[in-house]
Amino acid sequence: MIDGTPLMDRLRTETQDRHRQVEAQPFFNALAAKDLPLESYVGLLRALETVYATLEAAASAATHPAIAAVWQDSMRKLPLLQRDLAYFTQHSLPEMPVATLYALLLADEIRRAASDDPAALLGYLYVFEGSTLGGIVLRSQVAQAFKLKDRNGLAYLSSYDKQIAAEWREFSRRMSAAPLTTSEQDRIVATADQTFAGMTQIVQGLYPIPKQEMAAMVQALNPEAGHHVIADDPREIEAALRAGERSWRQVPYYEWRYGERGRRFTWSDSSWIVTLSRHSEAVATHQLDWLSRVLASRGMPRWLLEQHLQVLHDELVSAIPENRHTYALLAHQSARLRDLRHQQLDEPTFQALAAEFAALVGSEWAERFAGTGYLLVAAVADERAGIKSAVTSVEGALTDPQQFPQPWIDAVHGIIDKARKAE
Ligand code: HEM
Repeated sequence: MIDGTPLMDRLRTETQDRHRQVEAQPFFNALAAKDLPLESYVGLLRALETVYATLEAAASAATHPAIAAVWQDSMRKLPLLQRDLAYFTQHSLPEMPVATLYALLLADEIRRAASDDPAALLGYLYVFEGSTLGGIVLRSQVAQAFKLKDRNGLAYLSSYDKQIAAEWREFSRRMSAAPLTTSEQDRIVATADQTFAGMTQIVQGLYPIPKQEMAAMVQALNPEAGHHVIADDPREIEAALRAGERSWRQVPYYEWRYGERGRRFTWSDSSWIVTLSRHSEAVATHQLDWLSRVLASRGMPRWLLEQHLQVLHDELVSAIPENRHTYALLAHQSARLRDLRHQQLDEPTFQALAAEFAALVGSEWAERFAGTGYLLVAAVADERAGIKSAVTSVEGALTDPQQFPQPWIDAVHGIIDKARKAE
């Protein structure tokens, strides 16, 4: 932290390297050399449409006083992007799925910031508002490369026109006047830095055009994932990301135990599970039995996948209602896992033991780690079904004396013991 340095100065100096990095991408060199394919430019507009739709909705709904002090409706760029995209529909250009995916990931981060740390939204606003300055350079390059005239296909890059310097000064003034703590300012700078990194990934996905798209998409979601297929409809991937977020919010254990790396596996696995809905129940059963056992032996009882399949189903149906018959398979699979769980321990026993755990640890801890009672009883159900390390992989982590108070640790052991003995 640089004490006392005004926020706008910090943003400029601390993200300078990232700005250079994005500027140095082959996308911009190809554009300057008039070598950029039109689909790469239109792909950028599409990716930005996804990001701006989320950012502008979040900024206009935010109640944090600093956002209210900076955000204005006149900053909206979405209508300009939509106008450009409408102009290019005549060309029927192919989608650029890798860039779309990176845009969805950036949008997912924005949604998370909006609910967890709204002041950080200013980091996104800084980067995108500032990008209008470079837009002047890009506007003339794009106009020449694609022989565009007036504002056709150039509305977004023409944001603010001649008012650009005055608008930027005014934006800088509002940012400087916004009521922010030092730690909020730190997070805004860190967010701006990440936003540049996200933009770099987006333009990398646009040029050169990735040859092995599916592999590149899996990499985008999770660099550590193996080679597997994922949904190729961006609406389905967005639904998978939303479902991941919901599941993680419902059970804070995920975040606590698996962190950012785990989140990426949730994304890639969920995007793969979507593809199972196009297969038969037998294929889906086989694959999900395998996945659920792997996860259960690594600290994620099958109850978690049971819940997640239902959430994923609901998100998919709300994203693409006309496919609801296809997605029904995921709800059936969730019900199948529930039946397997009930073969070991019935629902009233589950409920009673989970409630007993919550009462033993007290409301503060029960809330901080919502769902832990279920998790423990579910681990015992898995153990009873023959998944050997189902309980130990959960019990060890949840009884770490460095992290948990003694009454919590006693409650964990106690509930596991009771569940093991339950009829
Ligand atoms: C080849 C591509 C780009 C060029 C040539 C370019 C160029 C510029 C120029 C000339 C400025 C004005 C500097 C000044 O007046 O002091 C600027 C500022 C800025 N650009 Fe870019 N830019 C490019 C890409 C981007 C991208 C992709 C983003 C982010 C999405 C971005 C974000 C910003 C920001 C945030 C500022 C404000 C810096 C500050 O004064 O705090 N630029 N850029």
